[in-house]
Amino acid sequence: MSHVLTGSFLFSYNYVLILGIKHNTFRVKNIQKYMRIGKQSGGKVMKSLKLAEKRHSVRDYKNKKLNSDDLKTLSLLLLDAPELMNSSGVDFFFVEEGEIYAPLLERLAGYNGIMISAPHYYVLLSDAITNDYKAVGYIGEWFVLNALKQGIGSCWLEVKDSDKLKSILHIDSPKEAVALLAVGYAQKEHQYSNLFGKGNKESLFTLAEMGYPNINTDLSQGPTSYRKSITEFIYMNEWGNTPDISDLEQIRLHEALFYMRLAPSYENRQPWMFVFREDHIDLAIEQHESISPIIRAVDAGIAMLYMEVGLHDTGIAGKWQLSVLEPPADIPDGYELVGQYNF
Ligand SMILES: Cc1cc2nc3c(=O)[nH]c(=O)nc-3n(C[C@H](O)[C@H](O)[C@H](O)COP(=O)(O)O)c2cc1C
Repeated sequence: MSHVLTGSFLFSYNYVLILGIKHNTFRVKNIQKYMRIGKQSGGKVMKSLKLAEKRHSVRDYKNKKLNSDDLKTLSLLLLDAPELMNSSGVDFFFVEEGEIYAPLLERLAGYNGIMISAPHYYVLLSDAITNDYKAVGYIGEWFVLNALKQGIGSCWLEVKDSDKLKSILHIDSPKEAVALLAVGYAQKEHQYSNLFGKGNKESLFTLAEMGYPNINTDLSQGPTSYRKSITEFIYMNEWGNTPDISDLEQIRLHEALFYMRLAPSYENRQPWMFVFREDHIDLAIEQHESISPIIRAVDAGIAMLYMEVGLHDTGIAGKWQLSVLEPPADIPDGYELVGQYNF
């Protein structure tokens, strides 16, 4: 595939959306054609949306290894990974004996150094290059969504000490252990995890709020954690220019954005801000002193995958560009430009 970042389950279309701003609103020059495409591709949007709606971080696993068919499917999946996997050199290292290694990895991975016990893990490794960390996010989440199609649950885990973790797992690689993916069968159909209520999303969180197993919380309301509204993470044409939902519906962007809002992120911070310009979209990620540039880049890669799937399914072709980015003057301090999606 020709995309800089692309996945085998993504689709390409030859149509281009042209946006133009007029008095805090915008118009689509080829709206007739665009609306027709939206209708045609509705089935695919629904399919992808349903998958993303079903996904949630699984922190409570059945005490059972994946069966051999599922393990084989996961291995084959990696052979069919997005082309980016080769170009970025992201490696997946499989840890079969999760229950043996989980206690050994305490303090080396997971929020506050608290491991999630799982039957298996994948260690995602890359060179210590920002764009490769983004590739980890993109490919890792592609893997998560495809594993979910097989009924396999997963959870991202941050790595706190790459060297120690590699030494314990006997990983002989110069690459950095960027993140772990816990994998297995979910204990419940939905591990309720309404982690970060709107009111306290900036505050420190408790383990109960994070949906850790065996902790009852009345906060639990549904399988998906709190998400921003779609108008909270997009601007039209310039920073600060928030569209109305009806504008987004008119140009049929809302479906792509509903998909996007379901992307997982570190501490569920949803740090993304997309600025739709005339011929491209800028993706900026909010910086936070307590969050490492590695995590920021992984969050960025995950967001790029979701936005790309949403846009492609809606019929908006394009590709992400990661390098040689000229940050537009309107992106404020505290945000980092991490990618541009060129139509
Ligand atoms: C880069 C990254 C690192 C994460 N690290 C952890 C972690 O160490 N421990 C954990 O319990 N969840 C971790 N998560 C999961 C997030 O908390 C979760 O995706 C977010 O709260 C949204 O919830 P949901 O995935 O159920 O939709 C991580 C997610 C991402 C994207």
